[in-house]
Amino acid sequence: MTYRIAVIAGDGIGVEVIDEGIRVLKAAADVFGFSLEFEYLPWSCTYFQQHGRMMPADGLDTLRDFNAIYLGAIGWPTVPDHISLWELLLPIRQTFQQYANVRPIRLFPGLTGPLRDKTSEDIDFVCVRENTEGEYSGIGGRVHVDTPNEIAIQADVFSRVGVERVMRYSFDLARRRRKKLTSATKSNASRYTMVFWDSVFEQIGAEYPDVETEKWHVDALAARFVTRPESFDVVVASNLFGDILTDLGGAIQGSLGTAASANLSPEGAGPSMFEPVHGSAPDIVGKGIANPIGAIWAGAMMIEHLGENEASDMIVRSIERLTSEGAILTRDLGGKASTMDIGQTVARFVRESQQ
Ligand code: IPM
Ligand code: MN
Repeated sequence: MTYRIAVIAGDGIGVEVIDEGIRVLKAAADVFGFSLEFEYLPWSCTYFQQHGRMMPADGLDTLRDFNAIYLGAIGWPTVPDHISLWELLLPIRQTFQQYANVRPIRLFPGLTGPLRDKTSEDIDFVCVRENTEGEYSGIGGRVHVDTPNEIAIQADVFSRVGVERVMRYSFDLARRRRKKLTSATKSNASRYTMVFWDSVFEQIGAEYPDVETEKWHVDALAARFVTRPESFDVVVASNLFGDILTDLGGAIQGSLGTAASANLSPEGAGPSMFEPVHGSAPDIVGKGIANPIGAIWAGAMMIEHLGENEASDMIVRSIERLTSEGAILTRDLGGKASTMDIGQTVARFVRESQQ
């Protein structure tokens, strides 16, 4: 089986971590007998400086034919973030209906996270973030710009189709795990959108009597990520809430550098996209010290999505072996290893699994 992968390494450390992700994916493909064809698309803020846009006018059409998209990080100080993101990352998520942004939160064995007394047993859950609408719908405007009368409006958009589908996805996922789904809400203050969100959660929940449900206001839920992470199995959240909660998730994992994410288009309206949660990190670019675990794990999620479950499991087990041994880790995890050391070691562990 051959899969065609569009690679958008993007900006900053995105390029560095994707190289290591690809090294590991190639090892997994060799061992498990499938092939991956990578096509590199140079779309980024550097591309913007040369072409005045983040991707070609037909960029989305180009992506449509791939089996998946593997993305590093987008954003650089030379281009305002709201332009670089709205011309590349966010249109991809919206156009291909990648509505389920799946972000597993795990403290890998052997790592010390910032939460005293919490081990890898305690921190192991998944956040599903709605990824196409909500607070990041992109609808709004500004009038009377730069005058005292200026007004800015940003519309939160919650559609029945949009909320139902992400709820169903989350219930299905919870059913395959420990059968508990927590909904992040804020229906005490957001009396239209979040009251609607709660009612859809309840309606869809009725179809899943075997899944335990609870809804929590997002402020209290954020605190619970810190105090009782072991009480979660699957958390479903709107676009903004999920965005914030998953950076917190990255922190309790020991480092945002280990956090991975899948932007899934479950009905196949287009390819799905896989990326680490971290950004382009201009402060450490070019030093070879970025942690590629998030990118490598995202690569594992990508081949799982393509149906290569055994290979995907082996990559995750190889990351676990790396962190359990603890000898080769990047600085953010208290070690001294380089980005490439991590990629080479995980790739070697994957290859050793064959013997
Ligand atoms: C993420 C990022 C993006 C988001 C930004 C860069 C637009 O923070 O993937 O979490 O908010 O979706
Ligand atoms: Mn984010």
